This record gives sequence, C-alpha cells and structure tokens, in this order.
Amino acid sequence: MKKCNIKVLLIAAIGVLIVFLILQFTDTPLVNKPVTSEVNINPEINAIFEHACYNCHSNEVELEWYDKVAPISWIVKRDVLYAQKVMNFSEWDSTPAAENGKLWAILNMVKSRKMPLEHYLKVNPEAKLSDQEIAVIETYVRALPDKNYPKDTLRKKTSVEEFKLWRKVDRLMDSVPLSPNGIKYSDDFKNWKVLSLNTLYGETMRVTYGNEIAVKAIKNEQFNPFPDGAVVVKAVWEQVENKYGEITPGKFINVQFMVKDAKKFSDTEGWGFAKFSTQNLIPYGNTPNFAVTSCISCHRIKAKETGYLFNVPLEINLKN
Ligand code: HEC
Ligand code: HEC
Repeated sequence: MKKCNIKVLLIAAIGVLIVFLILQFTDTPLVNKPVTSEVNINPEINAIFEHACYNCHSNEVELEWYDKVAPISWIVKRDVLYAQKVMNFSEWDSTPAAENGKLWAILNMVKSRKMPLEHYLKVNPEAKLSDQEIAVIETYVRALPDKNYPKDTLRKKTSVEEFKLWRKVDRLMDSVPLSPNGIKYSDDFKNWKVLSLNTLYGETMRVTYGNEIAVKAIKNEQFNPFPDGAVVVKAVWEQVENKYGEITPGKFINVQFMVKDAKKFSDTEGWGFAKFSTQNLIPYGNTPNFAVTSCISCHRIKAKETGYLFNVPLEINLKN
C-alpha cells in the first residue's frame, strides 16, 4: 500500500516536471527593440527612471533569470509589452507639450505609488522609490514651464467677446467632427450644475459641470460603479488678470468630456473621454483608443475613491 503511494507521487512529480519543461517552450522570449529616441531630461531624474522603470518602459529591458522562467515569464512579458505601449523612454519622441503631459502622468503614478507595479516590487525590491526620490521628481515636474498654453495676451475687452462667442449655443453644433471614439460634442452642459471652479498655477481657469445623473451620483457617493449616462464636462480658459488683480477667463482653450457608458467604453474602464480645442472645437486624438494613452492614466488614480473623478466636493475627498 505504502509503496504504491510513493509510486503515485513519483509519477505525479515527473508529470509536473514534464509539464513545466514543456511550458518553457511555449513562449518566445522578449527581444529588445532598438532605442529610437531617448528621453532628454535632467540626468539625475533619468537615473531614477533607469533603475526603477526601464525594465518595463524602455527598449533596454534587463531581466533576471527568474523573470525568464514560465509561467512567471508570461506575466513579465505581458507587463513589459503593455508598459512599452503606454510609455516608452526609448521611443520618447515627444513635443514639449506632450513631454510635460508624460512627466505629470509619471509624477501622479509615483506619488500614488502605483508605479513601479506592486507585484514587480515584491520580486525586485531595489526598484522601490524612496520618499526622497519621489520628492526630487516632484520638484522637477512642478518647476516645468507650462508649455501647453501660451500666456494670455488678450485684453479684457477681447475676453468678453471671447466669452460671448463661446456662449452662443448651437453655434457650430452640426459641423463639429466627432471625437475619434465617437463622442459627439454638445452644448447642453452650459446649462448644467457647476461642480467646481478652480485655477491652475494662475494660468488657467477651469469650470466643471455635471449632468443630472452625475450630480446625483456624486451627492449619493455612488462611485463604484458610477452610473451609466453620467456626463462630466470641464471647460478650460486662460486666466487674465487686470491691474487691480481681478481675474477673469481670457481665451477659451478647450472643453473636455467624460461620458460614462460601461459597455461602449470598456477599453477605458467605462468612461469615454473627449477633448475639443479652441472656439472651433477641434477634436483631440488620432485613433479611437487615444484615451488609453492620453487620459485614463491620471484619472485611474481616482478610480476607487471617487469613480475616476477629481472634482468632487471637498468633504468627500477628505474622507478618502
Ligand atoms: C513591472 C513593469 C513596470 C515597471 C517596473 C514600471 N511600470 Fe509603469 N506601467 C506598467 C504597465 C503594465 C502599465 C500599463 C498598465 C497600467 O496603466 O496599469 C504602466 C503604466 C504606466 C504609466 C501610465 C502611462 C499612461 O499614459 O497610461 C505611467 C506614467 C507609468 N507606468 C510610469 C512608470 C514609472 C515612472 C515607473 C518607474 C518609477 C514605472 N512606470 C515602472 C508597468 C511597469
Ligand atoms: C496629467 C494628468 C491628467 C491627464 C493626462 C488627463 N487629466 Fe483630466 N483631469 C486631471 C486633473 C488633475 C483634473 C482635476 C483638476 C482640474 O479640474 O483641472 C482633471 C479633470 C478632468 C475633468 C473634469 C472631471 C474630473 O475628473 O474632475 C474632465 C472631464 C477631464 N479631466 C477629462 C480629461 C480628458 C478628456 C483627458 C484626455 C484628453 C484627460 N482628462 C487627461 C488630470 C488629468
């Protein structure tokens, strides 16, 4: 009887070993692509990225032997391919404005300790960023000149005209092209409830509006999941200051939409994003999935607490 048990165990062990060995042949190993355009930033900051991020977000991946053993190698490969797609330090190739966007996304990710990925840190604890390294990144990113928007040069009078033009409901309604992911611009939000009004570094003013479904969900703190049909819209203006120090909106910059439809926008976790720029409302993005790389990363930070939204009342934010 006992002998028989040992035999069974032995056969099982050999079976597991064979399966394990076969697994090693199921996967093609990762091969580094050439570095086409390196990130050109402060070397001290780049050194931090090199030790903590390059193993996923670059074409200079240097894996340990245990990362190459199936089935772990499957997870590693999936992470690396996905990470290279969303942001690649070896294929940086960014306009100044896009570079600012990426660096802000990086700051958000490292401050909230979402990057490097937690399961990676368990195996590679040396990649964990110290508080000091995060502070160095933060100081650098916060000091970046805002390359996105030229400083406002409009005089007050022009800004009143700018606002009148913007208010003109139905102005362009039928001629505005759809956002590449199918979201249609609509002027309706101008009559919705204002969720918040804020300014960013004294450069821009932002007004965020919510439709009835969104306002009700926020009031009831129904964030997980946020109900389908909710729409939140943010209008961004340059900020003008007169000689008395009063601030008003200047030139209209863009309007950004978040439309909740779990099925339709499953690629971006249920929220459809869109951005329409200038008074001509030119839609942003070249491909239907532009928001995967340009929008969701920052908003994901708020996924659990407030259903992907930043502008919720302070008392809700303080609770989380
Ligand atoms: C183990 C692999 C891995 C490491 C190491 C890693 N990342 Fe990531 N990163 C990913 C993956 C996978 C994604 C895409 C999935 C996601 O957003 O969760 C991602 C997404 C991101 C994004 C979002 C990009 C976007 O626009 O959606 C940023 C920013 C980012 N990482 C920054 C960093 C920084 C900075 C470091 C180093 C401090 C780092 N990552 C280290 C795997 C990694
Ligand atoms: C670099 C990080 C970042 C990226 C990338 C980003 N957002 Fe945001 N977004 C924010 C922050 C922070 C706020 C809140 C501050 C404010 O009102 O400007 C916000 C607010 C919003 C709001 C108002 C609702 C809310 O969450 O408070 C909308 C709508 C919005 N963003 C749409 C977009 C769209 C569309 C894109 C992509 C084209 C995008 N965002 C990309 C950080 C980001």
